[in-house]
Amino acid sequence: MPGAVLTKAQKELKRLAFLNPAHPEFGYIRTYLDWLTDMPWQTATPNDTSITKAAKILDEDHYGLKKIKERIIEYLAVMKLREKEKKNKEEEKGTTILCFIGPPGVGKTSIGKSIARSLGRKFLRVSLGGVRDEAEIRGHRRTYVGAMPGRIIQSIKNIGVNNPVFMLDEIDKLGADFRGDPSAALLEALDPEQNNEFSDHYLEVPFDLSKVMFITTGNILDTIPPALRDRMEVIQFPGYTEDEKFHIAQQFLWKKELTANGLGKKPIQVTDGALREIIQRYTREAGVRELERMLANICRKMARKIAEGKKIKKEVSKEDVAKYLGPRKYSETLAEKKDEIGISTGLAYTQAGGDILFIEVALMPGKGNLLLTGKLGKVMQESAKAAFSYVRSRWQELKLPKDFYKDLDVHIHVPEGAISKDGPSAGAAISMALISAFTQKPTRREVGMTGEITLRGRILEIGGVKEKVLAAHRAGLKTVILPKDNKKDLEEIPQNVKRDIKFYFVSQMDEVVKVALKK
Ligand SMILES: Nc1ncnc2c1ncn2[C@@H]1O[C@H](COP(=O)(O)OP(=O)(O)OP(=O)(O)O)[C@@H](O)[C@H]1O
Ligand SMILES: [Mg+2]
Repeated sequence: MPGAVLTKAQKELKRLAFLNPAHPEFGYIRTYLDWLTDMPWQTATPNDTSITKAAKILDEDHYGLKKIKERIIEYLAVMKLREKEKKNKEEEKGTTILCFIGPPGVGKTSIGKSIARSLGRKFLRVSLGGVRDEAEIRGHRRTYVGAMPGRIIQSIKNIGVNNPVFMLDEIDKLGADFRGDPSAALLEALDPEQNNEFSDHYLEVPFDLSKVMFITTGNILDTIPPALRDRMEVIQFPGYTEDEKFHIAQQFLWKKELTANGLGKKPIQVTDGALREIIQRYTREAGVRELERMLANICRKMARKIAEGKKIKKEVSKEDVAKYLGPRKYSETLAEKKDEIGISTGLAYTQAGGDILFIEVALMPGKGNLLLTGKLGKVMQESAKAAFSYVRSRWQELKLPKDFYKDLDVHIHVPEGAISKDGPSAGAAISMALISAFTQKPTRREVGMTGEITLRGRILEIGGVKEKVLAAHRAGLKTVILPKDNKKDLEEIPQNVKRDIKFYFVSQMDEVVKVALKK
């Protein structure tokens, strides 16, 4: 123990010596002393920061993610150099915290484990989802009955070393209420300037967290408290293309599921066609979790057959997929859907990565009212109103009578109705659906669009381009309309996706109409 802790412990021990074991206080002090003696004050896993080895291990565990791996290696290199320097200096300071942001199942947690493996350090994971009480992070004061240290100190004690790779999952779902703000406590744990003296209410003495490598993960950036976000270096995981998924499944997931289901010793193959069939027709996601589940499902069914003494084929072919998984879940791609009046295809950015959504507009006799449904957030509602005003103001260009909306009520709906949606980026798609409804001309369904719209019909830059384009590709869209100012974001998009999709970059709503409205 460090000197100050030892003094504290000895003081408590003296108090204990004077107490009758039957005294309630006795148990409390005893437990407290157990905590103090159990903490890994000095115990650490030897540091092993061979950069080439780390790079090799990251490649061994994960397909692709080139940029992310590079960024991690840089980070490890900096850590290594700083450690050397630190030996000569008095002051100790941790490095910045990495924060992995991306849709579910893209490998955030599993690459964290991989980092721990590549450093030869222990791995620890705590979920912050739904944590609302500061005491969960920082513990209760000892005067409380049943007081305990917070999750951070508890986990460090359990793992028994003071330098694990510590992953804090779901940092974007941290709450706050009357019991205090857990993000403030977290800030203290994560801030390299002060976490060498992290104070837990229960422990009372500071614990040095500066050797811990913290990694946080979350699905979206917006809900992370700004002060926390400021302390972290954000790395975005945008989601995988179909090809990437295919390679991940072929090289990693299939073997993993065979082993997990007791088939590791059997050389059962899955054909390329079968994998593509599963990816295209049984899953629709940014990550690979659903895909992994489907493969697990197949393995389980084969395991059962073997256990029942039946024979199975040595290969899973495209035709076998339906036998194992039932009928296709996604039988038609969007491109195969019919063009309709009053429906446009928008591209959205949600917690689950990119997604496509349909904007529906219905007109009915009424008094020019606008009705909005589909659990739209404030920003999206305003964006819909702006779109409506824009379309109304363009009556001449659209060859509509001056008061065309007077005797009509307009209803805009965005399925799926149970999922809340927000943001301004559907402006262009809403305008398009309105124009289609008023002019009674169908829109082309396979044209996906995204962009904020101004009252004058200008199309403004939006975020999440890569996620949206990947979603469009997944759904089989052939054409994507993006704001002109987003042209720079195309650089990040894989070549094979760019080959499949025709892009239009627009700055005015008129240009959108030209592409998306059927003649
Ligand atoms: N590039 C990849 N190479 C190999 N396997 C991968 C890759 N990406 C993801 N996986 C596998 O996909 C599964 C899901 O990944 P993981 O649990 O890390 O997702 P996550 O990003 O943490 O999601 P969540 O946000 O839901 O926590 C894991 O089994 C992981 O090993
Ligand atoms: Mg995870």
